[in-house]
Amino acid sequence: MEKTSIHGMWSSRTAFILAATGSAVGLGNIWRFPYMTSDNGGGAFVLIYLACIAVVGLPILMSEILLGRYGRESPVNTLIGAVRDSRASRGWVGIGWIGIVAGVLILSFYSVVAGWTLHYSWLYLKQLFGGAGITDPAATFGALLASPLELSLWHALFMVLTVGVVALGVEKGLERAVRFLMPALFILLLVLVIYGATTGHLGQAATFLFNPDWSRVDGNTFLRAMGQAFFSLSLGMCTMMTYGAYLPKDISIPKVGVTVALADTGVALLAGLAIFPIVISFGLDPQGGGPGLIFTSLPLAFNAMPLGIFYGLLFFALLSVAAWTSSISLLEPATAYLVERGRMSRKRAASCVAGLCWLLGLASVLSLNHWSHIQLFGRDIMSFIELIANDLMLPLGGLLIALFTGWALRETVLRDQLTGMPQGLFTTWRWLLRIIAPVLVLAVLVSAVL
Ligand code: PFF
Repeated sequence: MEKTSIHGMWSSRTAFILAATGSAVGLGNIWRFPYMTSDNGGGAFVLIYLACIAVVGLPILMSEILLGRYGRESPVNTLIGAVRDSRASRGWVGIGWIGIVAGVLILSFYSVVAGWTLHYSWLYLKQLFGGAGITDPAATFGALLASPLELSLWHALFMVLTVGVVALGVEKGLERAVRFLMPALFILLLVLVIYGATTGHLGQAATFLFNPDWSRVDGNTFLRAMGQAFFSLSLGMCTMMTYGAYLPKDISIPKVGVTVALADTGVALLAGLAIFPIVISFGLDPQGGGPGLIFTSLPLAFNAMPLGIFYGLLFFALLSVAAWTSSISLLEPATAYLVERGRMSRKRAASCVAGLCWLLGLASVLSLNHWSHIQLFGRDIMSFIELIANDLMLPLGGLLIALFTGWALRETVLRDQLTGMPQGLFTTWRWLLRIIAPVLVLAVLVSAVL
């Protein structure tokens, strides 16, 4: 008999695609991708990023979904089952633990940044009803970062929203939330790209985004691009594995994998094409914008455009939503694991994990103000956590997932999950997992450590 998950199942292929795209599309695409591109030299970074998505990201995305659907449990238990079935070493279960730790670390700062987007939505809402405008965006952003109280309250509110959805479960919470919100986000980005085009700087923005200047590339560029590819596709921490566990058996993994990867990449590029024309048209430097990039540049455009306040509200509200559908997926793996251990309800499990993430997030909050002098390897605490979790743990988790699927799982297991995939594609995918992706990820990790 066909195994199902105790946590529930996606009701359709579209539901899975929306949920997985909801996980993938988030702050990573609209906040992080533009400023990483800005800080890492533009076009060359984008090209390396796209190559990482195609050669490393997509094959690993497919393996995560496959592993999840094969095990139908939270990552740690799925791996325990898979290891038992294939008589592999118990050490592979570590993949699930890396996932849980990375998820907690990422959610801790992700929620802080998502809090900024809530704060901005609130500012625009007030402005719509006659409140003061954001006349000096850099000062507004600076004032927010200087206030630990305000930052931790928005961080808390965002965490409560995330727990609210996860506590309701797969169909009633996760699926319902993503159905309308994802299409709305996409349409709004298109509106902003069209506005960007009317500034007359779309060409310059496209040159900045796609014209590589290889002289600015070093080992670090590769690490950041690879880390960004993993972060953006929600890979390497077993999120997609968890979502795969709720995927009905008759749905094609390669097809949904390609759809999610294309949607995610499309949104990142659209975000770049929306933001850089605005940055350029206001005479700001597209290089080196840092994490404040969208918070300091977009309000300038919203001030200048007709109906700008309304668009500002819509933009930050939808960005909050994009962050929300991603943070749900960050919380789900650890929650599902606690529920499976049988001692906790879903509500309780989600609240405990989120509480831990909130507390850890306070370190990121303080690193923006009182603790900004504390440096770990030349970075403030928040960037340090980001570096360890995104750029090191996610690629490492992804590397192990590739090796486990490529070498330890039997071909019959893979074939059973990938019925209908042409033999040539199957073989290519398997060798990408066995050799190519691991060698590339390892090369990037080793070069970064050296
Ligand atoms: N992919 C999300 C984004 O781009 O914002 C972030 C993320 C979600 C990373 C879930 C990892 C994850 F497991």
